[in-house]
Amino acid sequence: MQLTNKKILLAVTGGIAAYKAPAIVSLLRKQGAQVKVIMTQAAQEFVTPLTFQTISGNYVYQDLFDKKPASPLVEHIELAKWADVFVVAPATANTIAKFALGIADDLLTSVYLAHRSPLIIVPAMNTFMLNHPATQENIQTLRKRGHQVLDTQDDLLACQDKGAGKMLEPEDIVDAIDTCLRPKDLIGKRFTITAGPTQEAIDPVRYLSNYSSGKMGYALANQAKKRGAKVTLISGPSHLPRPKVDQFIEIKSTLDLFDAVEKNFDQSDCLIKAAAPADFRPAQIANQKIKKLSQGAGLNLELVKNPDVALHFGQLKQDQIIVGFAAESQNELENGRKKLESKNFDLIVINNIKRADAGFQTDNNAVTLLDQSQAAEELPLMSKEDLANIILDRVSDMFITKANTK
Ligand SMILES: Cc1cc2nc3c(=O)[nH]c(=O)nc-3n(C[C@H](O)[C@H](O)[C@H](O)COP(=O)(O)O)c2cc1C
Repeated sequence: MQLTNKKILLAVTGGIAAYKAPAIVSLLRKQGAQVKVIMTQAAQEFVTPLTFQTISGNYVYQDLFDKKPASPLVEHIELAKWADVFVVAPATANTIAKFALGIADDLLTSVYLAHRSPLIIVPAMNTFMLNHPATQENIQTLRKRGHQVLDTQDDLLACQDKGAGKMLEPEDIVDAIDTCLRPKDLIGKRFTITAGPTQEAIDPVRYLSNYSSGKMGYALANQAKKRGAKVTLISGPSHLPRPKVDQFIEIKSTLDLFDAVEKNFDQSDCLIKAAAPADFRPAQIANQKIKKLSQGAGLNLELVKNPDVALHFGQLKQDQIIVGFAAESQNELENGRKKLESKNFDLIVINNIKRADAGFQTDNNAVTLLDQSQAAEELPLMSKEDLANIILDRVSDMFITKANTK
């Protein structure tokens, strides 16, 4: 879980999108975070404090002059000190204006002046309220102050106007919180990450492929981006949502993959080869659909070898770090070691494909990491996002070692 024990202070203000705020709390808790909620008076017209108390498992803070405070300490200062991240979602035009001016006439605005953690403001309002010069100037003021003010979505709004002002979805807000909490140790580093299967055409309607879903490569791309890297994701066909990377290159075949890596390799600091390219492709691609009857009893398909992408770029390696993957069903460590050496990888991630709960298509992975020091680290079953971060920790350490030995 990516937000384990992180302390998130969520302020809910009086906009109609307050009805979505409980979903933010629920998602945060599923990620292991602790959540405390502040509600303005206006927010309580839309959702009850009991909803947030139940979902967050914590007292809900509503009043600067609380008659029955949760603690005898000065609450607005304690809340400000407690938070790792302070999030206001939804943020009304009114609260944004008060923040910009530094007005502290209720609990939330007093916490704002006392806060010291990063602040994420998630506006939600009618398009005209948002576009009003007063609101726009206030948003600019807050951005200049170093706060993160997220964009809104364009849609049909609750007031039936159509346009900007709709609050981002709870998943996007949690993603922004997660990004904010990630270390930014990969700033300035360029990553090329490959993901997914390849498809090797047989005829206009058929192809050879494998079970790779792309989940591991996409998780690596997502996490590298959150840690500040510039990311090119080269992806075979996948149904996964496209990560917010700097460059996304869609490929089909191993030959396409080879070309795309070639175009990006020289300017990369790290190449992570999480794709599962096909080793073979049909010698001929039939121009027309191969008919059942024209083939007699069966069909002999002649296959030719695809270029070995890993070997090729391993040999070309200059200053890059290369991370490879191996899917093994037996002698995992021995085969992984051979692959690490023969392909000139700096790190290899060895998947045990015998496990039904890990590897291809699943959300989890159980792997062994092996580097040039030959020390193997067997990792327990974990989410691909968590594994991506462990792999990136290793790469980050390698960048530091390289810089120190120059
Ligand atoms: C039905 C209704 C919906 C509202 N929706 C919004 C909204 O989405 N965004 C907003 O900025 N203000 C909205 N308001 C106005 C705010 O509730 C009002 O400005 C209030 O003073 C905000 O107080 P707060 O910022 O302390 O929560 C709405 C008001 C009503 C009556």
